[in-house]
Amino acid sequence: MKIATTGIDTTLERAAEHLGDLTPHVMALYLQRHPEAAALFNDLGLGEGSQLEGRMVEAVVYFLMEWQHSPAAVRIALLDTLPHHVRTLGIPIPAFRGLVTAVFDTVRTTIPAADPHELEAWEHLHQSLLAPLHAGNT
Ligand code: HEM
Repeated sequence: MKIATTGIDTTLERAAEHLGDLTPHVMALYLQRHPEAAALFNDLGLGEGSQLEGRMVEAVVYFLMEWQHSPAAVRIALLDTLPHHVRTLGIPIPAFRGLVTAVFDTVRTTIPAADPHELEAWEHLHQSLLAPLHAGNT
């Protein structure tokens, strides 16, 4: 089955036009849902928490862009980085997954409601990225 991933670039370009830098929008939504993660970014960012926030939001965006070219490579990269975050850095899985979801939800607000196909493709991509991110894979 051909997965409907065409249009990711259009979706992201539109989001950038509407929102500019995604990071503050993503983090506002994310920290509302996961207030406990503020301390994680602070502590792990060694006083440069907002830079770390930007790097992690970029990492999510990079993975979702790469998905259209090589889903297998993205899946491997996610499986590789997950245990590092959960075991080494002590980030709870819901907090890790929550950042992925906050990126998707932030961008989703810029997709025209009249475009059910794009919304559906976006949600499909969201679920594809979340799929490897569960406790069994840490
Ligand atoms: C709770 C949220 C997160 C926190 C606090 C966090 C924190 C960190 C820290 C401290 C590092 C070490 C290297 C550095 O300082 O850049 C790192 C690396 C990295 N993070 Fe995150 N991260 C989070 C979520 C995510 C998510 C959701 C993704 C992607 C889906 C991601 C992808 C990466 C990648 C690719 C690296 C570099 C490779 C690696 O060290 O495994 N991070 N993260």
